[in-house]
Amino acid sequence: MTLAYRARVGDNAPHIRAGGSAVSWDRLIREELEGLSPYTPGLREEQVRERAGRDDICKLSSNEHPDGPVPSAIEAMRAELGGLNRYPEGAAVALREKLATRFDVSSDQVLVGAGSNELLRLLAQVVLRPGDEVVYAWPSFVVYPMVTNIFQAAHVKVPLAPGEVHDLSAMAAAITGRTRIVFLCNPNNPTGTIYHRAEFEEFLAAVPPHVLVVVDEAYYEFVTDAGYPDGLDYFDGVRPLVVLRTFSKIYSLAGLRVGYGFAPAALVRAVDCVREPFNVNTLAQVAALASLDDEAEVSRRRAENQEQKTYLHSSFDRLGITWVPSEANFVYVMTERPVEVFDALLEQGVIVRDFGTAPALRVGIGSPEETRRTVEAFEAVVSRLGSV
Ligand SMILES: Cc1ncc(COP(=O)(O)O)c(C=O)c1O
Repeated sequence: MTLAYRARVGDNAPHIRAGGSAVSWDRLIREELEGLSPYTPGLREEQVRERAGRDDICKLSSNEHPDGPVPSAIEAMRAELGGLNRYPEGAAVALREKLATRFDVSSDQVLVGAGSNELLRLLAQVVLRPGDEVVYAWPSFVVYPMVTNIFQAAHVKVPLAPGEVHDLSAMAAAITGRTRIVFLCNPNNPTGTIYHRAEFEEFLAAVPPHVLVVVDEAYYEFVTDAGYPDGLDYFDGVRPLVVLRTFSKIYSLAGLRVGYGFAPAALVRAVDCVREPFNVNTLAQVAALASLDDEAEVSRRRAENQEQKTYLHSSFDRLGITWVPSEANFVYVMTERPVEVFDALLEQGVIVRDFGTAPALRVGIGSPEETRRTVEAFEAVVSRLGSV
């Protein structure tokens, strides 16, 4: 059988014949992947348009920024289009150097990846051995359990404390001799909550040196609380601490896939050894470089996000909806009937994020017009269902 034929029929034929004998996919594919399911992204606008019977869809399900990339990033990408026959600069040297200068670290301490998602997986790949333990809060970002599974580590999920906040003392207490990674999400996705400086310092003091602390700051630029601990303030290039950030959120480059982070040089080198050689594409590199220069736009976006969030909060209060204070670009709304409310919002053309039957929905903060539409949609839902 030719390889081309096998590739063509493979998906539909679990037991095809190769070289005269049956192929058992169960034996070929690592058995520890058996119980896993692919990541389920939020609904896309096209999927909802037909269902809602309207064109004006507000996609508030993936914590994206409502505006496009900054103009200088678009220009930089345009200038590169004709050169896309060439591979990208494999080590993203210019981007790493710029990040190093901007954040005052050395360039061998900078990680760049195809989104911070890729960096989460690469870090797990270089650190986790089967049977190691990974500690993370729950609910938190779904990629932490995914990478834990991929590398056959054991999950130590520490429930959020009342107020939907990380319970850092319980997380420190959950560390054992087998713990290899602690993932911290600050602000936390999906709740938007943060932990503060004093508790983080106490936590760091309690963490033994065999444990890698990965602080995921995907929503860092949206934070306005003065008590927020910038993970980089605790980074010294020696302590096993990694800080991850992304260009996907406030910089509006989610579709390009580019994230970054800071790690001790030995860890960066290990990641460089296992990453795909050209993991950050050319357009992503130039767009990220240009975006870093537009600090005024980042401040404007942070302020606008804050304004829309405040308006949402007061509207939720007026409607008797319980919400969790958020430092990010989304709000965690509590509801006893998430499935009904999710569907009712969809009918209004508003896509939020649900978590199955968990008693909450995550509502992204969009443009002022989208916020107005969101409030109207919740008003319609409350008047139809009586409450949320
Ligand atoms: C907490 C958190 N970390 C990381 C990511 C991944 O972002 P990206 O891979 O787009 O950089 C996300 C995306 O939603 C997130 O919410």
